[in-house]
Order: sequence, then structure tokens, then C-alpha cells
Amino acid sequence: MRTPLIAGNWKMNNSVGESTELVEGIKKGAEGVKKTDIVVAPPFTALHAVSCLINGSPISLSSQNVFWEEKGAYTGEVSPAMLKDVDCKYAIIGHSERRQYFGETDETVNKRAKVALSHDLIPILCVGETLEERESDKTFDVVQTQLKGGLQGIDAEGIQKLVVAYEPVWAIGTGKTATPEQAEEVHQFIRGQLKGLYGEEQSEQNRILYGGSMNPGNASDLLSQPNIDGGLVGGASLKADSFLAIIMAAEKPSL
Ligand code: PGA
Repeated sequence: MRTPLIAGNWKMNNSVGESTELVEGIKKGAEGVKKTDIVVAPPFTALHAVSCLINGSPISLSSQNVFWEEKGAYTGEVSPAMLKDVDCKYAIIGHSERRQYFGETDETVNKRAKVALSHDLIPILCVGETLEERESDKTFDVVQTQLKGGLQGIDAEGIQKLVVAYEPVWAIGTGKTATPEQAEEVHQFIRGQLKGLYGEEQSEQNRILYGGSMNPGNASDLLSQPNIDGGLVGGASLKADSFLAIIMAAEKPSL
């Protein structure tokens, strides 16, 4: 039985004040949440402030990236130790916006995932195809390559902690969501890949999140699919009400 996980990816949004206000709202509304893991990924500048506020609450902290070196002359990067210092538990890795705008490759994604694991940060490893790739029937090839590349050298112990996020690029921030069937098909494929790499028992334990315009209106249908274990939510995580509505959809007893 996999614990549902709903993660809010705030991307490059929210001042420190806006972040603390948002997390206070989430905290208040999430008081009765019993079975869903809740994660927020504020921008780096707000990690510390948010961390102080969620201490002792059911909300965990994630970064939106992590660099693979420990310290040194790497202007603009953030080390795993720095993230642990502010009590990050998760790190989003290989988001399509990083791949698309910042030259992230399967190799750099893999380095980041490995360093995260070695510092006890849970990687949320993102994979997903573009519209062009989907239309030319390359979805499974792309997802397989990104997954295998990202997991290279990650052993049986590492994989136990890792979370995968399937985020079709064409659905991110576009309001165009994959249908539950389209998403489930790829989630099932990802679980099959994990089974091939790490065995059935392990593959049944890994959580696979869906990301791409998840909102209060479509969350229940997506989350009721057998291989969709939660969501990585962008736009709808920027308002406490809509984020909480998605969390409540994951809390539903039938899921
Ligand atoms: P979206 O973003 O919910 O705004 O589509 C999801 C993501 O990129 O993680």
C-alpha cells in the first residue's frame, strides 16, 4: 500500500512573505489530513522561513533542485548540505523546465539524484515527453531513456527512497491535462521499467506522481488510477484552497 504524496512546486514564485502566508494557510487546512504526505517546494530564498513554520506539522520541505558538489566555486548552485541545513527532506530533480531552459541532461539529473540520496534527501525524479515526442509515438522511448539515465548506478537501497514524477511537458502550465487513461498508461509503463530494473516487490513500493495541470477538478480522477500515487502540482499549489482541495482528493477513503 503506497502512501499518497501531494507536492507543491512553487517554481519561481512567491516572496518570503507570500511563501509564509501560503504555508500558514496550507498548515491550517491540513490539520485533519491522515494518510497523505504533503510536500512544498518553495523558491530557495523562502526555504528557511517556510522550514521554521512547518516544524512539527505534517508538511515536509523540498528544494526545486540540488547540485552534486559539496561546496566551492559553483556560482548560483545549492549544495545538498545547505538543503539539509534548512531541513529539506525532498529534492525535485530533472524537472522539464530545468531540462528545457538550463541544459539539464540525463547525466546531470543522475548526478543530482545520487548526491541527494547520499545526503538522505528523497529525489523526486521527473520524466516526461514533449508534445512532438508524443505525437510521433516516442513517449515510451523518451520516458524509458530518461528513467534509465536518471537511475544509472542507483542501487537497491537508493531506489527504496526515490519518488518518480511523470510530467508530460505538453501538460505543464498549459491547462491541458493528460486524461487519467493517458497518464495511467505511462505510470504503468514506468512501474514496469522499475520492475525490470529492481524487481517486482520494489516496483510496487515506489511512488509515481503525476504532474501537469493537476487541479481540484481533475485530481480525483487522476488519483483514482491504480498506478498514480500522488501529484506534483505547479499552478494549483500557489493558492492554499486549491492545493488543499487536491490533498483532500488524495485523502478520499476509496483511494
Ligand atoms: P503545473 O506544473 O501544475 O502548473 O502544470 C506542474 C509542474 O511543473 O510540476
